[in-house]
Amino acid sequence: MQKPDSSKFVHVTNQRYRQHYHIMTPGGWLNDPNGLCYFKGYYHVFYQFHPYSSQWGPMHWGHVRSHDLVHWEQLPIALIPGDPEDSGGCFSGSAIIKGDRLYLIYTGHHYYGDGDPDHFWENQNLAYSDDGVHFTKYQHNPIIEAPADNTQHFRDPKVWEHDGAYYLVLGSQHQGDKLGRILLYRSSDLLNWKPCGPIIQSQGKSTEGWMWECPDFFSLNGQDVLVYSPMGIQPQGKRFLNLSQVCYRIGHLDYRTHHFIGTPQQELDHGHNFYATQSMLTPDGRRIQFGWLSPFNEKIPEQADGWAGSLTLPRELTLVNNILHVRPAQELTALRNHTDINGNINVNGQQDLTVTNPQHTELIFNFQESPHDFTWLLNAGQEILIKLTYQDNQLTLTRQGKDPYRYATVKGLQDLHIFIDTSSVEIFANDGVAVFTERYYANEPVKLAVAATKECQPAVQAYQLK
Ligand code: FRU
Repeated sequence: MQKPDSSKFVHVTNQRYRQHYHIMTPGGWLNDPNGLCYFKGYYHVFYQFHPYSSQWGPMHWGHVRSHDLVHWEQLPIALIPGDPEDSGGCFSGSAIIKGDRLYLIYTGHHYYGDGDPDHFWENQNLAYSDDGVHFTKYQHNPIIEAPADNTQHFRDPKVWEHDGAYYLVLGSQHQGDKLGRILLYRSSDLLNWKPCGPIIQSQGKSTEGWMWECPDFFSLNGQDVLVYSPMGIQPQGKRFLNLSQVCYRIGHLDYRTHHFIGTPQQELDHGHNFYATQSMLTPDGRRIQFGWLSPFNEKIPEQADGWAGSLTLPRELTLVNNILHVRPAQELTALRNHTDINGNINVNGQQDLTVTNPQHTELIFNFQESPHDFTWLLNAGQEILIKLTYQDNQLTLTRQGKDPYRYATVKGLQDLHIFIDTSSVEIFANDGVAVFTERYYANEPVKLAVAATKECQPAVQAYQLK
């Protein structure tokens, strides 16, 4: 493997937007979470990383590990691009443990060298580690090459074990109709892979997308769940309002016919900044997911400070009536430092919610019965940066700036669970039925407030976070 030139790494020059308890780079660019796994007593999270600048560039795999999903330790870069199998970048991929070894399966990205960033090809590669820190690329890479009926889009393997065999799904675009699809491969040893064909494909560019990235596949409550990030879906009313989003389907993968039959695709998160998810199992059997707090084509103010991007909090996924519920991982209670509020409050009109450190706060509202309407606000000086309003079985999120609104339909409002960090807000409503993931940038002191046009009395917990 190539060696990184750490003397050229970019450094953080200003702490103003640095997150306090989310995974970030030590300096440099971050996008997708990769290689999530639990290995030899640690949770491992890798991430798409460009250490030489705060812009996207040749992708490395950054690496952190944790005993508890809360406190993360930065480790040396795990994968460095530039070898024949990954000349233009080590793109996204996943991890699997076999015996005593941790294996990473990732995409090698390659440019044809004519200066056109869309003129590339992709293959799949393997790397392994026995200590979970130092990785070796497999000497017979690549392990999978794109089939003849594929375009150049062929990436982001997610691997798992089923009935004594290994499987992986890949994000792909079909050459013929130029639509997104998910390809399945099978192996008995992780080294030799046989194609099983597409398990599902997009039914239309504008409704389901022209490329499906970052697939994830797992079983939950006896059903199969396919999560993926389709590119290019057009807005449909109040849904699919982002340039690209994370969608999921609940169904069944037939391991004999290699077809996945499932529900129509649904949005997993209703916020502006959520993309490219991946999940893993905890030793006690919970399905934990991370995503990228993605800016899409928005401005990224922290780029001026030598870094860009962070991951979401770890979130537990559960399945209830074919709907994925998303909750903050229970381990996050370890972040609570000090209780600011604990009790019922009376909301009538607008009022401040006074807490020790508004930008590092966890807030929980519980409503005994659904309010007529309720609003939560994050303000900086005189400006409203984020506002969430419940009314008429709808949550409306308003973010300052252009393209402000995002929506979710809920049946009444039962609870809101909100995590605020220096430059992100994650809102979980009604036991995780609806989630909004947002970044925000405050240049004046932040204040929190609540409002209702008809009096209500939610029970409130507010914790200052470490
Ligand atoms: C998604 C993505 C992946 C790719 C990676 C490259 O954000 O485009 O499909 O592997 O980012 O950094």
